Amino acid sequence: MGAPELDVAAVRAMFPALGLSVHGRPLAYLDSASTTQKPKVVLDALVRGYETACANVHRGVHALSVAATEGYEGARANVARFLGGSPDEVVFTRGTTEAINLVAESYGRAHVRAGDRVLVSGLEHHSNLVPWFRLCQAVGAHLDVLPIDEAGALELERLDARLTPRTRVVAVSHVSNALGTVAPVAEIAARARAAGAVTVVDGAQAAPHLPLDVRKLGCDFYAFSGHKAYAPTGVGALWGRAELLDAMPPWQGGGEMIASVAFDAITYADPPHRFEAGTPDIFGAMALGAALEWLSGLDRAAVARHEAALLAHAEGLLDALPGVRRVGRAPERAAVLSFVVEGLHPHDVGTILDLEGVAVRTGHHCAEPAMTRLGLEGGTVRASFAPYNTFEEVERMVQGVLRAQEVLTR
Ligand code: ALA
Repeated sequence: MGAPELDVAAVRAMFPALGLSVHGRPLAYLDSASTTQKPKVVLDALVRGYETACANVHRGVHALSVAATEGYEGARANVARFLGGSPDEVVFTRGTTEAINLVAESYGRAHVRAGDRVLVSGLEHHSNLVPWFRLCQAVGAHLDVLPIDEAGALELERLDARLTPRTRVVAVSHVSNALGTVAPVAEIAARARAAGAVTVVDGAQAAPHLPLDVRKLGCDFYAFSGHKAYAPTGVGALWGRAELLDAMPPWQGGGEMIASVAFDAITYADPPHRFEAGTPDIFGAMALGAALEWLSGLDRAAVARHEAALLAHAEGLLDALPGVRRVGRAPERAAVLSFVVEGLHPHDVGTILDLEGVAVRTGHHCAEPAMTRLGLEGGTVRASFAPYNTFEEVERMVQGVLRAQEVLTR
C-alpha cells in the first residue's frame, strides 16, 4: 500500500477565504509564497486571545495578565519546538525582515568591522540583502555575493573562495521566494563555520514547506514569518544560538527589555526579552503558536508530496505551451513556479489571471538582483502552492495563461 494521500478537501474546508469568489469566479489562490490563507483554528486563536486574555504580558499580577503571559510564553515554546531550539533562543519579531534587521543591527554592529566581509547569496530576497548592505556601508565592510547559475542554483563551487578570513557573516535563504531553489543550508553553514563566519538563514519560504531542525542545519540564526506559515501578519520569530544571543547588545530600547533602570546605569534583561522592547504582538504570537501546531498536526510528508505533485503538474502543462518559459530549474525546488510568457509583461499576464479568479504574484518578487542576473528586468509570473491547492486550480491557471496569450497578442 502507498503512503496516505493528503485529504485536500478536508484541508480546504478549514480555510474560510477559500470559499470566496473573485470577478465572479471561484478564487484559485496560487500566491501562498506572498502570504498564506489562514485556517479557522488560527483565526479563532487570535480572537480568543483578545476575548479571554486581553492584558499586557510580564507586568501584571492580575489574572488576565497572567493568562496573557502564559499564552505568549506558551507560543514561544511552540515556535522553539517547531524549529528544534529552546524557548530562550526564540525572539518574537514582526517577521523575517525585522528578525534579520535585528541580527544585522545587534550581532553585525558588534562583530563586523571596517575591512571585514559579509557574504550574501545571489538569490536573496531584499530582506536578507538590504540590512547587510546597510551594515557594510555603515561600518566600511565589503558585501560579497555567492552567484547563481542560469538554472537559479547557487554556485557552491565558488563558496570556499568567497569565504575569506575576514568573512564574518554568511546570509542565505533556505528556499528562494522567486525561484523555489532549496539551498543546501547545512553544507553552507558547516563551511562558513569552518571559515569562522556565522550563518544567518532566511527561512520565510522554508518554514511552511520543510521540516526544520536548526541544530541539524548547524546555522547560527534562523528567521521566519508567521504570515507565510498560516499565522497572522505582523508576527514572526528569530532563533539564535544561545551563546550568541547572550553576548549580543539590545537593538531597541524601552520597556520589557530591561532588568533595572536608573538615570546613570541600565542593565538589560536576558535573551530573549532583551530583544523585545515594548508591548509585543501578544495575541498574534499566540495565533502563530496555533498555526505551527496546526501545520505540525498535518501529515507533513503527505503535504510535501502533494505540493511536489502540484508543481510537477504545473510544469508539465506550462512546458507544453508555446511561448512560455519556466524560470528556475535548480535540481531541488519547493512549491514555487516562476515563468515568463514571450512578448507579454508579467503584470499583464497576472491581470488576466486575476480576471479568471486566479491569484498569482508578478514582478521581481523583492529579489531584484536574482531577476537581473537572469535577464528578467520585468520579473516573472509566480505561482506558489500550499496544501489547500488543487490540480484543477493549476489547470485554471494554465488556461488563464492561454487566455492571456489570446487576448494580449491579438
Ligand atoms: N516575500 C513575499 C513574496 O515573495 C512578499 O511574495
